[in-house]
Amino acid sequence: KFIERVFSGVQPTGNLHLGNYLGAIVKFVELQRTHDCIYCVVDLHAITLPQNPEDLKASIREVTAAFIASGVDPRQHIVFNQSQVSEHAELAWVFNCVARIGWLNRMTQFKEKAGKDRENASVGLYAYPCLMAADILVYRATHVPVGEDQKQHLELARDIAQKFNLDFAASIAAHGHGEGFFPLPEPLIQGPATRVMSLRDGSKKMSKSDPSDYSRINLSDDADTIAQKVRKAKTDPEALPSEIEGLANRPEAENLVGIFAALNGETKQNVLKAFGGGNFSAFKAALVDLAVTKLGPIGAEMKRLKNDAAYIDEVLVDGADRARALAHENIVAVKDILGF
Ligand code: ADP
Ligand code: NA
Repeated sequence: KFIERVFSGVQPTGNLHLGNYLGAIVKFVELQRTHDCIYCVVDLHAITLPQNPEDLKASIREVTAAFIASGVDPRQHIVFNQSQVSEHAELAWVFNCVARIGWLNRMTQFKEKAGKDRENASVGLYAYPCLMAADILVYRATHVPVGEDQKQHLELARDIAQKFNLDFAASIAAHGHGEGFFPLPEPLIQGPATRVMSLRDGSKKMSKSDPSDYSRINLSDDADTIAQKVRKAKTDPEALPSEIEGLANRPEAENLVGIFAALNGETKQNVLKAFGGGNFSAFKAALVDLAVTKLGPIGAEMKRLKNDAAYIDEVLVDGADRARALAHENIVAVKDILGF
């Protein structure tokens, strides 16, 4: 009953990295062949933590440039920034009234991001998953490509969709929408790098906010920087195993093998077939070559686009117009269902 439609977002908070690329953006590009796709720079999410307005504007353009440089086609599909389509915020309010406090209390990302001083975190940071559910469901999207860290938020989005459908079942049917107004969106979490870890600490995920720049490979890094970061990446003293089981309890080795596999579009097992038994220095040299080959052109294209802010802004305006048309229709229907 629902059109298969993909929605996903990336926050404009600087330091776009290999985890964002392998966990999300690579799949954004793939899904364009089979689905109608909407890719969003989620700037309303960014302000759940303090942002400098000038940096925020630059980051919105940077994420847009990264999408396009990676192969997202903003003409065939939709690319825009969230704040320009106010229907996201409208539906988020409705979802604030559907979701239960107990559900939000279980969200681990809030606990991590709020840290020890929870009383001082913004209300927005707490309600973030309701806005994320609105981002997806305002388009009645059915599939959401994300990294593993977003799994819990996707489950909450499904719970919200289901509760809305149940709470308003009679009104939904009376307005001719059949059994349920919202689809239950499915996360697409696949491949060998759904959770890319820090290059300095195999127990932490690669993240924009890690104070160590050596913990991550940024999409804007040049070849020398990529080479240095891979060479310095933490490993262990053992040789690489020949079988996947040999990666157990070796998070740094597993991470590098996963990164190689994802960049090369193959399985970890295949990588071990080629490099198992060898030491890390030969493997790292091959990983540098691969990373530079795959990421170099993206970084160069991002740099080129950075000097063409007029083009980026035009993409965003055009994308927002098309997104708004879809979102508006659904918001009108939601208001009817609610009795407004
Ligand atoms: P970050 O978590 O770096 O602040 P976002 O929240 O904007 O970035 O996430 C953008 C996308 O990148 C999401 O789909 C998220 O799951 C994915 N992602 C972020 N970090 C990683 C990682 N270390 N490994 C795999 N995917 C990741
Ligand atoms: Na994230």
